[in-house]
Amino acid sequence: MSTDVMGVQPGQSPPFPESWHRRHLLDLESLSTEELVTVLDTAAAFKAATEGFRRKLTALQGKTCANLFFENSTRTRNSFSLAARRLGGDTIEFTSSGSSIAKGETFIDTARNIEAMNVDVMVVRHSTPGTPARLAQHVGCSVINAGDGAHEHPTQGLLDIMTIREHRGSCRGLTVALIGDIAYSRTARSNIWGLQKLGAKVIVCGPATLVSRHWEDFGVEVAYSLDEILPRCDVLNLLRIQFERQHTRPFPSVREYALLFAMNRERLGRAKKNVLIMAPGPINRGVEITPEVADGEHSVILDQVTNGVAVRMAVLWLVSGARDRSGGERKGRSPSEVAVPDFSQPRDGTA
Ligand code: CP
Repeated sequence: MSTDVMGVQPGQSPPFPESWHRRHLLDLESLSTEELVTVLDTAAAFKAATEGFRRKLTALQGKTCANLFFENSTRTRNSFSLAARRLGGDTIEFTSSGSSIAKGETFIDTARNIEAMNVDVMVVRHSTPGTPARLAQHVGCSVINAGDGAHEHPTQGLLDIMTIREHRGSCRGLTVALIGDIAYSRTARSNIWGLQKLGAKVIVCGPATLVSRHWEDFGVEVAYSLDEILPRCDVLNLLRIQFERQHTRPFPSVREYALLFAMNRERLGRAKKNVLIMAPGPINRGVEITPEVADGEHSVILDQVTNGVAVRMAVLWLVSGARDRSGGERKGRSPSEVAVPDFSQPRDGTA
């Protein structure tokens, strides 16, 4: 494969973008359109330069990236590891189970001890919203949010958008529906911020117990019937129902939910001819999507996973490069970058 993405050839890293100054990636809400495009173009360049991830680069040589996962993960954790190693970096894998958290060590003490092993970038997943931002105030290394409760999952939003750009060239003018559990979905929030900045129209659709009218305040269309919006959509992103975050059941039965909101063969027949079927994963076959749609010709679900490696290469390289350029270790600086989000008000009226 040869490429002219950012003028990069196979085996070469792209030039560091002078406009990039963020030492952390905590959300997509605060990113400018230019910053979003920088990450996406850098990810495309790394994907091409590593020839589909079969070639290693040296862009992170001498750097150590630590994965700190306090929640389960298959895609995010493994792709961050692979991304760091594809760029020549070292990795540390931390999971809370089996760690000294069980002996009473706090989250911040744990992170600072990992950082003391000369870590350059920490990738953090935690069930509490705002945890990555709080961590960024206590450590000198870069921090990347790998999913914080129902707040954001910025690299998921980026890889979703990268996949749309690959298949459609641009997000501008497209109608993208996020279907299902909007109230508890960090993926939905990151997609909403990212897609709207890049010119897409976003529809959130699902049962009223999981989709608040409050999202209209952010320019998003709110819908309660998948069948009504189906013919207008260019992309359908089927979100998993996050039972583990819910205190009460949002609908009487999974069967009833599937009847109203699952993407199945019959609905696909009424969608646009070139509709893209996406899902962040893990998918629950027979709940939000049927197997023939998940594995069918419109599905780009595994392309999303592939692009996850490219996006994470880009983000690891950009934040660690910005840290180097800002003079290395600095704690508690750049308040606009590390401000912990205000969760005192419901952000969509249902959570
Ligand atoms: N989409 C996603 O975050 O998957 P994992 O939970 O497996 O990382």
